Amino acid sequence: MTTIATAPATPPLYRTSIGKKMLMAASGLVILLWLIGHMLGNLKVWLNQREFDSYAEFLRRLGEPIFPHTVFLWLIRVVLTVAFVVHVYLAVDLSRRNRRARQTRYVRTARVQADMPAVTMRWGGLALALFVIFHLANFTWGWIHPGYRFVRGSVYANVVGNFDQWWLVAIYVAAMVALALHIYHGTWSIFQTFGANSRRWDRLIRRSAGALAIVMFVGFVSVPVGVLVGAIQ
Ligand code: HEM
Repeated sequence: MTTIATAPATPPLYRTSIGKKMLMAASGLVILLWLIGHMLGNLKVWLNQREFDSYAEFLRRLGEPIFPHTVFLWLIRVVLTVAFVVHVYLAVDLSRRNRRARQTRYVRTARVQADMPAVTMRWGGLALALFVIFHLANFTWGWIHPGYRFVRGSVYANVVGNFDQWWLVAIYVAAMVALALHIYHGTWSIFQTFGANSRRWDRLIRRSAGALAIVMFVGFVSVPVGVLVGAIQ
């Protein structure tokens, strides 16, 4: 009797390591684009209360009259939430897969230096996920507002009331350090995944990723620090 050899079924792209890395890169890019917009919007706090509050109101009116009030903002929130969930899920999945692959091939010895970015990404990523929940409870849901009265819609007053307290500024600055490292390593590793790893490209990518991380850090941190030192009041 003859047996017909069948080729093993190829898994769909999204189930392969490279497919998952592509999805991580895509969801990370969605989050990054939104963060750039968020950082630029936050800088309006440097103008005055009216400008900043009307910017927050502009976000709620986005898409009108085609979409009813706040509906477009809700669409953005849904896209962003999906991107966050996909990004975190795949990060956990890929890191488990990496660890399994490594345990079968090597005896576990001291951490080599090449593991540093992976460790920073893992723990920094976890810290950022916790920060986002804290941040929403702080400014969006108004559940955490120590020492001041949270008024929905009075975003400027909420920001100033919040960052009058040094320990809240410290939490935000620490989170922005984690964000800057995440952006730096994340941007660099996307290009590694897709093969741009010659020496010349590597230097250019590292420098660009570093510049982006520094701009995001300074832009975000300028707000809490500006309030704390009394430049924004
Ligand atoms: C120093 C840094 C930051 C400051 C001062 C800041 C400030 C704010 C403020 C005032 C709001 C409320 C806006 C409103 O009610 O219209 C807000 C919303 C939000 N922020 Fe931030 N933010 C910072 C960093 C971040 C980071 C790093 C992330 C994500 C990793 C983030 C994610 C969000 C999200 C998801 C919302 C809710 C947006 C919405 O649904 O309308 N923020 N932020």
